[in-house]
Amino acid sequence: MTAPRGSARELQISAPDPENDGPKLIDLLSKTFPVRAGYWQGERICRDGYLLNSNYDWIASRVGKMGSEIVTHFGVWRLQIRVGRARILTAGIGSVATHGHHRKRGFLRQTANATLDALRGSDYDVSLLFGIPNFYEQFGYRRAWTFLNATIEAHEILSEAIPGKLERCRSAARADLAALYNRENAKLTGTAVRPVFPLGNPLVEPDAYLWKQHQRVTGFVFVGANGNTLEVRSWAGDPEAILAVVRRLARTRGLATIQFRWIHYQSKLSRFLRRQNCDFKSDYRSSGGPMIRAVSLQRFVRRLLPELEHRLKESPLSDWCGDLLVDDSQEAVTLRIKPEKIELLPGARSENSISGGEAIVQLLFGTDHPEETIDLNDIRLRGQAKFLVPVLFPNEYPALSFWDRF
Ligand SMILES: CC(C)(COP(=O)(O)OP(=O)(O)OC[C@H]1O[C@@H](n2cnc3c(N)ncnc32)[C@H](O)[C@@H]1OP(=O)(O)O)[C@@H](O)C(=O)NCCC(=O)NCCS
Repeated sequence: MTAPRGSARELQISAPDPENDGPKLIDLLSKTFPVRAGYWQGERICRDGYLLNSNYDWIASRVGKMGSEIVTHFGVWRLQIRVGRARILTAGIGSVATHGHHRKRGFLRQTANATLDALRGSDYDVSLLFGIPNFYEQFGYRRAWTFLNATIEAHEILSEAIPGKLERCRSAARADLAALYNRENAKLTGTAVRPVFPLGNPLVEPDAYLWKQHQRVTGFVFVGANGNTLEVRSWAGDPEAILAVVRRLARTRGLATIQFRWIHYQSKLSRFLRRQNCDFKSDYRSSGGPMIRAVSLQRFVRRLLPELEHRLKESPLSDWCGDLLVDDSQEAVTLRIKPEKIELLPGARSENSISGGEAIVQLLFGTDHPEETIDLNDIRLRGQAKFLVPVLFPNEYPALSFWDRF
């Protein structure tokens, strides 16, 4: 049966109501994003921790309706992402959908714009998503990072140090595993503060193993097979122990190759692996991979202040004093820099300034080397900004764990 056609003017946009709209929304998403085992598995994922009983934000998300039918969805998942030591409140966008009978009529554009307008008045700092190519730029999103995957052949792993008893976990959503993960990743940009999904990530089925010392968990791996490869989707602990464990898991499954998905370049394991025989592959997505957008430049920069103070303090510019204007053409803020302290003031003319467009968010997030971000995006530096930028906004090699994808 064909649904009635309509125009963008007939679309009524609102926050979804969990009780009245929940089942219709789940139906739309299960039809739009088919999973391997079909509609009912999609439905179950939505109910078991993705949409219901989850960090899905029913107030910030938006649906577009025609009459009582839900025809569009722009979903917001609430999470905290690190930038160094700072924690940035992030509107993770997911399950962006228009009912198949109503596409290409500007409905999604209208819904996305309404969501982003409402977010401005919320407490979120930035918004992050994993997109489709050439679509999200129109809403101000820019590339957030480069995927990095590390692959090692099981026979190249020399470590024998299996750490005591390897235990299989019934659920990967455990407070002790989250706490260990958070401790290990406390300063790594792009990582999420766990738990992200309170019941565990229903989008990534993990086969989870842990090991302990003196009754306390000291490491874990979440794995899954992909062809001839053992995919490791999250991990924590001593790198030698991790490698010994995944080698054993690969061997028992007859898998020759091990891949650490979405590994952080600056992580402990990454540094250790770069001293072995292995491959690191960077996967660049100019559009349609991870993308980021400032929701409020002022809130974002405010949240970054302790990290920026730390970076300055540790640099040769630790005694620098003065004002620095940051202007992304939507908003502007002034950093009043004094030794060991940075104050945030409303944007005002300053002899030192950084000005540009949406790509300013990449600079603040540490997406790439700052010189590259500046050159490729026509960001203008004035006064002493050229000395401050490499100190304040270095390449942070951001990466989210595969298990925290939304
Ligand atoms: C992607 C999707 C949400 C777009 O919804 P829609 O209501 O058709 O989008 P709109 O009509 O508002 O389109 C807005 C603009 O984006 C363009 N656009 C629409 N779908 C696009 C797509 N798949 N890729 C790139 N551009 C697209 C439109 O051409 C339009 O631009 P124009 O005004 O310059 O012509 C819809 O096709 C969908 O549900 N797809 C399946 C699920 C999906 O892929 N979701 C995204 C997951 S990240």
